[in-house]
Amino acid sequence: ARVYRGAFAHSTWDSALCVFPDYLLGVSEEGKIVFFEEGQNVESLSQEWSFEISDIEQLEPHEFFMPGMVDTHIHASQYAYSGTHLDLPLLDWLNTYTFPVESRYEDLDFAKDVYTKVVKRTLCNGTTTACYFATIHTEASLLLGQIADDFGQRAFIGKVCMDRNSMVPDYKELTEECKDETDRFIHELLKKKYALVKPVVTPRFAISCSSTLLSNLGKIAKNNDLHIQSHISENKAEVQFVKELFPDCTSYTEVYVKHGLLTDKTVMAHGCYLTDEELKIFHERGAAVSHCPNSNISLISGMLNVRNVLNHKVKLGLGTDVAGGYSSSMLDAIRRAVDTSKALCMQDAHLQPLSYKEAFRLATLGGSEVLSLDDRTGNFEVGKDFDALRVNICVPGSPIDLFPGDEPEVILEKFLNLGDDRNIVEVYVAGKQVVPFPDF
Ligand code: GUN
Ligand code: FE
Repeated sequence: ARVYRGAFAHSTWDSALCVFPDYLLGVSEEGKIVFFEEGQNVESLSQEWSFEISDIEQLEPHEFFMPGMVDTHIHASQYAYSGTHLDLPLLDWLNTYTFPVESRYEDLDFAKDVYTKVVKRTLCNGTTTACYFATIHTEASLLLGQIADDFGQRAFIGKVCMDRNSMVPDYKELTEECKDETDRFIHELLKKKYALVKPVVTPRFAISCSSTLLSNLGKIAKNNDLHIQSHISENKAEVQFVKELFPDCTSYTEVYVKHGLLTDKTVMAHGCYLTDEELKIFHERGAAVSHCPNSNISLISGMLNVRNVLNHKVKLGLGTDVAGGYSSSMLDAIRRAVDTSKALCMQDAHLQPLSYKEAFRLATLGGSEVLSLDDRTGNFEVGKDFDALRVNICVPGSPIDLFPGDEPEVILEKFLNLGDDRNIVEVYVAGKQVVPFPDF
């Protein structure tokens, strides 16, 4: 076993933040956590697991390990223009900026460039698991899977499905073609037998998909026992348009329910305008919400009441939603989630704001639960895969200053609010070091 000693921080369902100032963690050859115990047990552990005390990797006092972060909603293809084009509301933004760029991914050289950059960038930012939207193109979507595998990121990859309401003529598919290509994408990706990369059924959203297409995708997800991802109730104009497109459905949620797309493996982005009745349906079905606060503010879409979602016991994670969200960093998602919650508290004095500890849990254990990975990742429980970030506050150029008496909990809080990728000195996925990048 490889053994680390020092400070660790993680979440459990009982406690949003547990800090262990001096702990020992062992990782097996297979990348699993084999022990996680107090530092003072070092003698007995070294005998039980037969390691030399001199071989222990000792962290510095200004270092700690935390679980890798889970980006439950990111458009890899939109990384090409992230940080720009934030001046239109959702539906105009899609037709004006998004669809023209996404239509370029038939070009595999372009795809390779952008997809390599987004995988590298998110890994450096501490995203050990990402749930990606690609584009409608099967080949480029398969390439994204290959690149995630090459760099060792845990990833769900969605070939986007859409057969209507695109104002870019090239950028949509025929209904049958979309189903066939989704089947082909899933089978080609599964055939690669990547250990950590899986396909996810991806209807763009109800506006972009005919009822026939939605039903087909529901069946594909069911027959292959796959995850499903889409968007829901992000913006008021979108909710209104869905009402007009599906007059028989009493709510946006019911559209997805009726087509077999709201299961315990579903991740729906946004949900700003979901009613309490809809949240109850999410809870009953075990479907999850991905909260993307940067995007919601950048596109002036809405403000999700996370407290209400948590009170309904709906599975909840955070997403960057690049490029509606301009930052690919989950640290940004943590900060914006807290900001949004506090902004809502200004309007409603009875509302309990989201604490930084709760946001930390959403970004790690919460995201793992959203993707049904919580028996494998999300914290440092024995038996789980070692998906972790080694954080160092005292690197050259660090944006964080420490002062005498700053305890590990303070150091973590400062990192979450002030830190960046310079402080993330090593990243591990399933025990394998993926940052700094190995030489290929
Ligand atoms: N709804 C449908 N497609 C998209 C997208 O690409 N980004 C966002 N933010 N919302 C969407
Ligand atoms: Fe999105």
